Amino acid sequence: MLTLNVNGQVVTIEASSDVSLLWVLREHLGLTGTKYGCGAGMCGACTVHIDGVANFACQIMAADAANTTITTIEGLSEDGTHPLQLAWIEEQTPQCGYCQSGQIMRAAALIADNPKPTREEIIDGMSANICRCGSYPRIVRAIERAVKEDHHG
Ligand code: FES
Ligand code: FES
Repeated sequence: MLTLNVNGQVVTIEASSDVSLLWVLREHLGLTGTKYGCGAGMCGACTVHIDGVANFACQIMAADAANTTITTIEGLSEDGTHPLQLAWIEEQTPQCGYCQSGQIMRAAALIADNPKPTREEIIDGMSANICRCGSYPRIVRAIERAVKEDHHG
């Protein structure tokens, strides 16, 4: 038995002790917004927040995430209106979309930490997340838009 705090809810699941957090999120909790890309900590498709910090869910044993607060893309906002989600739509950021939950979660942690990042800080802060479709320019623009609109609104 494993108890986790995911998106503000305490959930108890039956899972073996050697299963990754990514697998528990997807298979046990049905939170399929978090993607499996490489399973090796090299792509960022599985990025979630653990105590507010962006982490690769494929590289963390679920058991090690007990006693933390986990947030997935499904829990980033109640209704999809986080400034980044709105900016992502405005900029039509995704292509195939596969990497995008991870990108948004990485970006959310980045701007929570640094609410007014420079373009260089955005590029640097997002470098752990790979996009095979090459949507990087739109990702940067969407983050810049979210920062600007959140600041003024
Ligand atoms: S699936 Fe976790 S980093 Fe690629
Ligand atoms: S949009 Fe296709 S991998 Fe990023």
